[in-house]
Amino acid sequence: MAEADFQVWVSAHQSHFEIQLRQLLPRSDTVPQRLHAAMRYSVLDGGKRVRPLLAFAAGELAQANEARLNIVAAAVELIHAYSLVHDDMPCMDDDVLRRGKPTCHVEYDEATALLVGDALQSLAFQLLAEHTLNDNPVQQLQMIRLLAVATGSRGMAGGQAIDLDSVGKNLSVPELELMHIHKTGALIRAAVMLGARCSSALTEESLKHLDHFGKCVGLAFQVVDDVLDNEADTATLGKTAGKDAQRDKPTYVTLLGVQAAKKMASELHAEALDTLANFGQPAHRLHQLADFILTRKF
Ligand code: IPE
Ligand code: IPE
Ligand code: MG
Ligand code: MG
Ligand code: MG
Repeated sequence: MAEADFQVWVSAHQSHFEIQLRQLLPRSDTVPQRLHAAMRYSVLDGGKRVRPLLAFAAGELAQANEARLNIVAAAVELIHAYSLVHDDMPCMDDDVLRRGKPTCHVEYDEATALLVGDALQSLAFQLLAEHTLNDNPVQQLQMIRLLAVATGSRGMAGGQAIDLDSVGKNLSVPELELMHIHKTGALIRAAVMLGARCSSALTEESLKHLDHFGKCVGLAFQVVDDVLDNEADTATLGKTAGKDAQRDKPTYVTLLGVQAAKKMASELHAEALDTLANFGQPAHRLHQLADFILTRKF
């Protein structure tokens, strides 16, 4: 029953969010058409939309306005889509399949993929600057800063730099954790916080709890990604399975083994739920999303 109710919530938000994204992205008949078509190709009709769902769930917990949540969710997903386009390029992971389709540089070309990433990132920040996200403009500036830090060299881009620098190396567990917290964890954590900060209803203490929740599920998400790369098949994932081993990437699977990696994901999930206990029932969507992040099959 709870599971069916969660599926309804997820589907409703995903389809509503898809309509928002379609409207927020430049039309493909607008000059330069090819770039706009490639941006739409890379963002629309695909992906689990986990980060937007986290923003919606945290925002609902904070009783935030839905129109504001649409904007922060879109900004985070645009950054995520940009990161995937660049991550797949030959100079990074060199992947040909993403979300069940040819990657952007395969469908278009490398220069276009580079520009798609650049333009998606700019559009994300344009949206945050254009729309009211909080009654207090100072708070809104803090939100924009939060996403900038999570995305930049001290966040996602920095994590990607560590990732590329680690190929063929034996990292220690703390070093791998640092890499994962940055390359994947930072944006997931930002998604939770941006949703919550669309309202001023939560206390600083509650926001700290949510931040810790975001940190735990953000790291758990990449640990599970490492496990799935090792265990799942290409058709299920919609991206090439076994890429990490093929490219000699240190992962939780290579460092700890599959069983210990799964145990670590479970421990992070448990810690995330402990943190949510501070909120009780109103945090049930975040609880369900944490369960999904742990048990997902793709
Ligand atoms: C894949 O992210 C890249 C990582 C950060 C691990 P997702 O698994 O969220 O990819 P989509 O958005 O569902 O395609
Ligand atoms: C991707 O990590 C992290 C970012 C895109 C920031 P991966 O390289 O493991 O993601 P997948 O497995 O290609 O989706
Ligand atoms: Mg990568
Ligand atoms: Mg990759
Ligand atoms: Mg991966």
